[in-house]
Amino acid sequence: MTTAITVTPSGQGCGAEVTGVDISKPLAPEVVKEIRDAWLEHHVLAFPNQKLDSDQFEAFAHNFGEFGEDPFFKPIPGRQHIAAVRREADDTNQIFAEHWHADWSFMQEPPSATFLYSLDIPPHGGDTLFSNQHLSFEKMPDDMKAKYENLTAVHSAVLGYSPEGIYGDTEKNGAMDIVPSEKAYERHNHPLVMRHPETGELGFFSGVSYFIGFDGVPDDEASKLIFDLNDWQSKEEFMYRHKWEEDMLVMWDNRSVVHKATGGYEGHRRELHRITIY
Ligand SMILES: [Fe+2]
Repeated sequence: MTTAITVTPSGQGCGAEVTGVDISKPLAPEVVKEIRDAWLEHHVLAFPNQKLDSDQFEAFAHNFGEFGEDPFFKPIPGRQHIAAVRREADDTNQIFAEHWHADWSFMQEPPSATFLYSLDIPPHGGDTLFSNQHLSFEKMPDDMKAKYENLTAVHSAVLGYSPEGIYGDTEKNGAMDIVPSEKAYERHNHPLVMRHPETGELGFFSGVSYFIGFDGVPDDEASKLIFDLNDWQSKEEFMYRHKWEEDMLVMWDNRSVVHKATGGYEGHRRELHRITIY
C-alpha cells in the first residue's frame, strides 16, 4: 500500500514528525485514517512548515472529532473553538500550565485530542514536554503498580481556575484570556488507570495539576501517592521534548500522554492557537 504521509519517530518516549502532506487542504478519508493511526501509535504528532489560517486549522482538527468545550478560556475574537496560548515579551507572571496534566481532565467527558498551532515562537525555551502514560504504566514495578491500579482519581479545576486558584486573579494572567469561575469547584472521578478506548492499552490518565485526591483515600496518603506518581511520570524514558518552530501544528492524544509547558524565553513573545476535540 502506498502511504500518503511520512512519519519519522522522535526516538524519545513518544512523538513523531509528519511530512509529505499539506494539512491546509481538505484531506481524503484514507489520509485522515493514516494520520489517526500514526497519532494512536506515537501519541504526539508534529507537522512542520504548515501555513494555516483559522478556517483551515478548524477544518483539519474537525477531521478527528467534534469540537470540545473550553470552560475557562475565552476564544479568540470571531471564533468559537480556538483559544490562544499567548505570552507577551514583557510578561513577568508565572508560565501557564507548568505541571503535568491531561487537558480538561476534570470534565465529565475530557477531550480526546488537543491541537496546537504555532504563530509566534521565541528563539529559545518554551518547549512542550509530553510523557507517554502507556509506557509509564507498563514500566512501573509491580509493587508500586499495586498501590495505583485500582484507584479512582478525583479531578477538579479548583487549584487553577477557581476564583482563588493560580489563574483566579485575571490581572496576573498576562495575555492569557482565562475566565476563572465557580464551575472550577466541580469534581469528576475517573479511574486512574484507563484502558484506551481505541487501542485497548492501559495507562495513567492525567497528572498532578488536576488531581485533588483519590476516592476513599485519606488526604495525606493521597498527597504522597500523587507526588510519587508525578515523579514517576517525569522520568526521561517516557518523555518527548517538543521543540517548536513557527507554522507547526502539534496534535496529541490526551488519553495517553500528560504534558506540561516550560519557560526559558523571558523577553520574547510566544503565541499558539489551540483546539480541543472530543
Ligand atoms: Fe494543556
